[in-house]
Amino acid sequence: MAKKIVTDLAVAGKKVLVRADFNVPMKDGNITNDDRIVQALPTIKHLLKEDAKVIVFSHLGRVKEEADKEGKSLKPVAERLAELLGQDVAFVPETRGEVLENAIDQLSNGDILMFENTRFEDIDGKKESKNDPELGKYWASLGDLFVNDAFGTAHRAHASNVGIATHVESAAGFLMEKEIRFIGDSVDNPERPFVAILGGAKVSDKIGVIENLLTKADKILIGGGMAYTFYKAQGLDIGTSLLEEDKLDLAKDLLARAEGKIVLPVDTTINTAFSEEGDVKAVAAGSIPEGYMGLDIGPKSIAQFEKELEGAKTVVWNGPMGVFEMEAFAKGTVGVCKAIAGLNDATTIIGGGDSAAAAMKLGFADDFSHISTGGGASLEYLEGKELPGLAAISNK
Ligand code: 3PG
Repeated sequence: MAKKIVTDLAVAGKKVLVRADFNVPMKDGNITNDDRIVQALPTIKHLLKEDAKVIVFSHLGRVKEEADKEGKSLKPVAERLAELLGQDVAFVPETRGEVLENAIDQLSNGDILMFENTRFEDIDGKKESKNDPELGKYWASLGDLFVNDAFGTAHRAHASNVGIATHVESAAGFLMEKEIRFIGDSVDNPERPFVAILGGAKVSDKIGVIENLLTKADKILIGGGMAYTFYKAQGLDIGTSLLEEDKLDLAKDLLARAEGKIVLPVDTTINTAFSEEGDVKAVAAGSIPEGYMGLDIGPKSIAQFEKELEGAKTVVWNGPMGVFEMEAFAKGTVGVCKAIAGLNDATTIIGGGDSAAAAMKLGFADDFSHISTGGGASLEYLEGKELPGLAAISNK
């Protein structure tokens, strides 16, 4: 059923609660990648322009006890948001209570306030993460309307997304709407050929995605650490490469069911250690000598994947092809980025997480139709699961 989006709400003069996913990477108190804040701007700007009183909030990291609060305040995020908006963002270092309620009362139309990390409510009984009904009701009581733009958190049923939405009229923000449109349409209604590229360390992380995409994609190209379990399942030599012994039968079964849809890399870049030092070289798939481990797809595989991608009209990519953090093993991931970027007339999507970080770090951020802001959320969406954060939003 179609969900309301932010433009379906009459927001002028209203207190609008906005759940964003500002779970951004931080180092020494500084934000190292502000993409999630940038991607939330269209919704926030729209609400401010329409004279709403905006109350924005998010989680940041995971908080179990008092000591975990250290370095997890949203204050730096409020400051960055203010810079990006060119407007003050009042920061309230509370998640409930009079100070917060008074600050909200003082908002004028077109003002914005951010309150503290919603997971600070997890210290006393995991109220946020367990979707404590009282907490969701309380937060809902702070506003007139609720806009959920936190696609990255949509796979969680927490008080700050699902809880609030059960008490107040709600709508998806522009980012949520865009993520669902791109990822949902590509999987459910793809223009063909539809090629999926899956990487990352473990088969176990991607079982659901492979299962779902086997019924939807025309080809599934597999790289990254998980390729070695598939090689091994075919009886090939993988040296000391990453192996999930307990997933060998599953890998065999997937290959059998794929009837040629799954494409494994023809060669692999290996080394004697998990390091750039050693004896880095490319060998044919399945010919990894003892004492060597595969750390990237090889040069022939890049050409092979380019060929497989030729003419593709829909491409979904999730998971790097190798240990891209080390330059010697970033070539496969760069090669795939370039191959996708070079496609004409194709809808190209990166399903968040490491592959999104890799594409941004390697300078390809503008070369895709869509880079998801959701890691776990986009994976679950690609698995075909219902996202509780999305399901809770009011229907049109
Ligand atoms: C993410 O970064 O994937 C989301 O913000 C969700 O965070 P979580 O895994 O801590 O719930």
